[in-house]
Amino acid sequence: MNPVLENYLKDKGALVDKELKRLIAADARAAIPFLGPQPETLRKAMTYSLMAGGKRLRPILVLAAAECCGKQGTRALKTACALEMIHTYSLIHDDLPAMDDDDLRRGKPTNHKVFGEAIAILAGDGLLTYAFELAAANAQEAKLDASDGYELVRVIASGAGARGMVGGQVADLEAEGWKGLRNGKAAAAKKLLEYIHIHKTAALITASVEAGAILGGATAAQRAALREYGRAIGLAFQIADDVLDVVGEKKLLGKSGSDAANEKLTYARLYGIDASRGMARELIERAHRSLSIFGKRARVLDALADYIVEREK
Ligand code: IPE
Ligand code: IPE
Ligand code: MG
Ligand code: MG
Ligand code: MG
Repeated sequence: MNPVLENYLKDKGALVDKELKRLIAADARAAIPFLGPQPETLRKAMTYSLMAGGKRLRPILVLAAAECCGKQGTRALKTACALEMIHTYSLIHDDLPAMDDDDLRRGKPTNHKVFGEAIAILAGDGLLTYAFELAAANAQEAKLDASDGYELVRVIASGAGARGMVGGQVADLEAEGWKGLRNGKAAAAKKLLEYIHIHKTAALITASVEAGAILGGATAAQRAALREYGRAIGLAFQIADDVLDVVGEKKLLGKSGSDAANEKLTYARLYGIDASRGMARELIERAHRSLSIFGKRARVLDALADYIVEREK
């Protein structure tokens, strides 16, 4: 890996981890006094998955996008943590027996294996809602204009919700064992697959980049460029995830790889490993091109794009 990026990932990852720890401890106390502290089991279950490790890609994208627009990353730190909380909630729910039914995540037993399904669902709910409290607090503390503050919350909600990640997850489940593959409807399968990946994964990654752009005071042109970048790296990220599900070292990945068992519609299945890798690389080229208006200021985002397809975990 590019040594400059390696240090960046280490430093920003540590910054995010420290802030997440602080925020999750603060959440144990009541934000609204008459509500009293949250139940201990819930706090434990939320902390378990949030602090189990993970690459912290989405929060790092928030920070890097704000920096690319000329502001300090720390200005966006709470929103960065909010995006990691939404991502972690999506993983807890994705692993549930009713969804991908996985036993291992981030190298540890999945949340429902430790806390049971009900608490796992509620831990996800707790992380998702806390994220919006944090984004709103960040907008206030950074003294964003009211319209920018609303836009920040809107962008995150729309990336995470029914027209974003949640919608993609539903399409992913409905495509399991998809008959069209066997009936020679290859064009329809390709379209559906792109829809799934753009929504279940690229939407939240794009929201991360756009949230960083808003907190970084991006112009409309900068915001549009970053949105295009997010979409391209987001789709490439999920293609790489599909490839790693087949060829990746499970221990390094910290998950077992259940796509084949679940008959998922994936890039690896539809196009094969080599063609999938080629498509991911093309998307990364597109991502680089979309950053051209930033010049040297896009160095970190450029390096992150390369990392997304070169990663082994
Ligand atoms: C896994 O995301 C789920 C996908 C959207 C592919 P990551 O690969 O970013 O998982 P962590 O956060 O590093 O555990
Ligand atoms: C999940 O895609 C995308 C999410 C929104 C969580 P996958 O189901 O492929 O993610 P992994 O492989 O379990 O991490
Ligand atoms: Mg899934
Ligand atoms: Mg899964
Ligand atoms: Mg996967």
